[in-house]
Amino acid sequence: MSNYHVPVMLQECMDGLNMRPGAVFVDCTMGGGGHFLHMASLVGATGTVIGVDRDADAIAEVTAKSSGFDARVIIERTPFSGFPEVLKKYEISGIDGVLMDLGVSSHQFDEGSRGFSYRADSHLDMRMDTRNPLTAEIIINEYSEEQITEILRDYGEVQNPRRMAKLLVDTRSHKSIRTTGELVAVLNEEYGFLKNGVLSKVFQGFRIAVNGELDELKSALESSVEWMNPGGRLVVMSYHSLEDRIVKQFIREKTVDCICPPHFPQCRCDTKQTLKLVSRKPIEATAREIEQNVRARSAKLRVAERL
Ligand SMILES: C[S@@+](CC[C@H](N)C(=O)[O-])C[C@H]1O[C@@H](n2cnc3c(N)ncnc32)[C@H](O)[C@@H]1O
Repeated sequence: MSNYHVPVMLQECMDGLNMRPGAVFVDCTMGGGGHFLHMASLVGATGTVIGVDRDADAIAEVTAKSSGFDARVIIERTPFSGFPEVLKKYEISGIDGVLMDLGVSSHQFDEGSRGFSYRADSHLDMRMDTRNPLTAEIIINEYSEEQITEILRDYGEVQNPRRMAKLLVDTRSHKSIRTTGELVAVLNEEYGFLKNGVLSKVFQGFRIAVNGELDELKSALESSVEWMNPGGRLVVMSYHSLEDRIVKQFIREKTVDCICPPHFPQCRCDTKQTLKLVSRKPIEATAREIEQNVRARSAKLRVAERL
C-alpha cells in the first residue's frame, strides 16, 4: 500500500456497508482509495463503485490505481454534497451504501505546502479543493473579529475564542499573517508555547471554515437517505466530536417517526422513520489497529440502514 493514507477500520467499514457482488456503492471521501479500491474488488463484474473527492491529488492517486477491476468504477472530482449529480450523470437511480471517512487524509496533512499542519511552515491555504477561492489566509486577514471568534468557538472549540480572535485582528492591523509559521508564532508569543492539542484545535477550526465541512456533511447525509435503496447502508467515520455529534443527531432524527418536543399533545412534524440503527454504539478501532495507526485512535464509526 502506498503511504498516501492508511485506511482506518477497513474491515469494519466493509462489514458496515454489507458489501456484496452486484451492488452499487458510493465512497464520498476516496482519499488514497484505501476503502474505495477494496470496495471495487468486492462488488464484482456486475457491481458499481462511485468514488468522489474534491482534492485533485486524491483523484490522480486513485485513477492511477483503478484499472484492472471487473466492477464498473466511476471517479469524479466534486464536493460530496454533489454526489447526487454524479449519480444523475451516470443514470444511476439508487445506491446500496454510502461511505464517508471524514476529514483530511494523511497525504493532505503531511504535504506541508497545503497549510493543514502547524508542523510545517507554508502558505495559510487549507483548501481541499484548490479551485475554491477561499483560503485560511483570507479568513484570518479579512474576516471580522466576530466571525473569527465564531470559527474558533464553533469549529475549533477553543477556550476563550474572543481573546484569540482579538489577538489576530490586532496583529494583522500592522502586519498580515500569511503563513502557518507566522500564525503559530503570533499565538506562541501571546500565550507562551501552546500545547499541540490547542494548535490542532485552532487549525481544525480554520480548516472546517475554509472547506465548509459541516454543511457539506449535513447535505450529504440527507442525500444518502434520499438515494439509498431499502436495505442500503450509511457508514460514517468521524474523528472529532463536532462531526460525530452531527452524524449521531442525524441518525437519531431519522430513526424515529416524530421529532416534536415531548410536551406537544399531538404530533405536528412530518417526520417519518427512514433509517434503523445497525450498531447502537459507535464502533471504535481495536487496540492493535491503534498501535499500528495512531490516526485510528479518535475514529468513531456509525452505521445505519435505510428502511
Ligand atoms: C480521511 S480521507 C479518506 C481516506 C480514504 N478513505 C482512504 O482510505 O484513503 C478524507 C478525504 O475526503 C476528502 N473530502 C473531505 N471532505 C470532502 C467533501 N466535502 N467533498 C469531497 N471530498 C471531501 C478529502 O479531500 C480527503 O481526501
